[in-house]
Amino acid sequence: MFDSRRVTFFDTTLRDGEQAAGVNLNTLEKLQIARQLARMRIDVIEAGFPATSPGDFNCVKAIAWEVKGVTVAALARTKEGDIRAAAQALANAERSRIHIFIATSPIHMVHKLRMTPEQVLSETRASVSLASSLADEVEFSAEDASRSDPDFLISLFKLAVDCGATILNIPDTVGYAIPDEFRQFCRTIIDGVAASEGVIFSVHTHDDLGLAVANSLAAVRAGVRQVEGTVNGMGERGGNAALEEVAMALATRADIYNLTIGLDTTRLYPVSRLVSKLSGVMVPPNKAIVGANAFAHESGIHQHGVLVHRETYEIMKAEDVGSVPAVMVLGKHSGRHAFRDRLESLGYQLDDEQISRSFNIFKCLCDEKKDVTDGDIEAIISDQVLTVNPEHRFELVDYAVSVGTGLATATVVVRRDAIELRDAATGNGPIDSAYNAIKRAIDFHPELHNFSIRATSSRSDALGETVVELKYGEITAQGRGAATDIVKASIQAYLNAVNRLYTQAAAREIKLEEAGGNRIVLKERRQDIGE
Ligand code: KIV
Ligand code: ZN
Repeated sequence: MFDSRRVTFFDTTLRDGEQAAGVNLNTLEKLQIARQLARMRIDVIEAGFPATSPGDFNCVKAIAWEVKGVTVAALARTKEGDIRAAAQALANAERSRIHIFIATSPIHMVHKLRMTPEQVLSETRASVSLASSLADEVEFSAEDASRSDPDFLISLFKLAVDCGATILNIPDTVGYAIPDEFRQFCRTIIDGVAASEGVIFSVHTHDDLGLAVANSLAAVRAGVRQVEGTVNGMGERGGNAALEEVAMALATRADIYNLTIGLDTTRLYPVSRLVSKLSGVMVPPNKAIVGANAFAHESGIHQHGVLVHRETYEIMKAEDVGSVPAVMVLGKHSGRHAFRDRLESLGYQLDDEQISRSFNIFKCLCDEKKDVTDGDIEAIISDQVLTVNPEHRFELVDYAVSVGTGLATATVVVRRDAIELRDAATGNGPIDSAYNAIKRAIDFHPELHNFSIRATSSRSDALGETVVELKYGEITAQGRGAATDIVKASIQAYLNAVNRLYTQAAAREIKLEEAGGNRIVLKERRQDIGE
């Protein structure tokens, strides 16, 4: 039943969010996130772009199969192949949505599509008609809408509705719009299309000027009732609208908006942490709603104010977004039950085998440190349990490093299948030498693109958590590792990234071949999808 006062949320963390530089989520990780989005009662999950690769196709299929209680969407260009791939991947969804997009701004039509407006109209007619026959609903997006001619957009949207689209999306693809202008623009489009009840207008904003959330909220004031965005605002360039910010603005300023949302906002913080852990994209401490300092009061005047009357300096409660500290710290006396409960509240839904594996790692960790924090648990789950790599798995067997002034030497032993590969190398520090030794041992020399290391808590017994991004040819992959010893964490992260290069290569049908001894050769088999 259509409710004109309800704003629905369309999460594209797994599609547009994953386009953020260096982010590569595997199917298990995407499933974890999708389950938690469903638990947060998100309305729509855009699970991927099935035509781009078999990996994306399988991921959409897995989410459509397993995650219920939400609409699952898949992205498609106007090409027949894209639409059929999306429909096939969505076949088992409880409710399926094919999301078709085509660019509508003069600059995109002329330079990217090389199409006339008439051709764009004809592509829209054919694709939306086909998609309507293959899914429960169709969303039509006019890419770069905010730089398009409003009259052309109105004709195009009218045509899309005639062909069966019920959701019309107005993207600010390059984050160019300004709130007042965008509100007026959306109003003009909504009035011009004059669609019947049941057709929902949507916005999809990018944050190039830091205005994505403001633009989404301005559009809501114009009558838009679906907001698209990502968890933590993750996405290409400046990112997308941060859904948690839009949701809390609508909830906190209900006096202005007078609209309802279906989200369980107390899940915002756990979902934010989960996405940050699995994507390796850190949340800045001052990030609104979900940053570590979002509810922290440092100055004496503020602290006093909050103590005497909370609302002096707090417009929302930390509990409203689920940002509550753990009431108990786990340690070696904690049982499986308490551990499982903590995993649940942190937003992980694991199967029995994964729980057993996590519990064993947790118990080993308890021998190394007295208290195990939430950060430690998140690190071991995301780094050691959700990182199954079916392709050519390299595993750390042993390592030793010795460090002098200005020179370090490392020896590493790595297992590949039943073979143990070992080598030694020098470097300018323990991690550099360990990485040089791994490259020699596995005879594979990817480029190190990014490296970061941080502690899981502020205590000296914290785990060191390393995130590494490797590049080889066209493929990039990210790996994570966590251990009390930062060299071990860094080696694990490196090997994890190498393993993911293999998984990536398989998903994109790039064959990784080994030639002679340990030599590994990459052979590109796939034509990149061009626009
Ligand atoms: O930014 C954009 O225009 C998109 C579309 C595919 C909706 O991501
Ligand atoms: Zn986008």
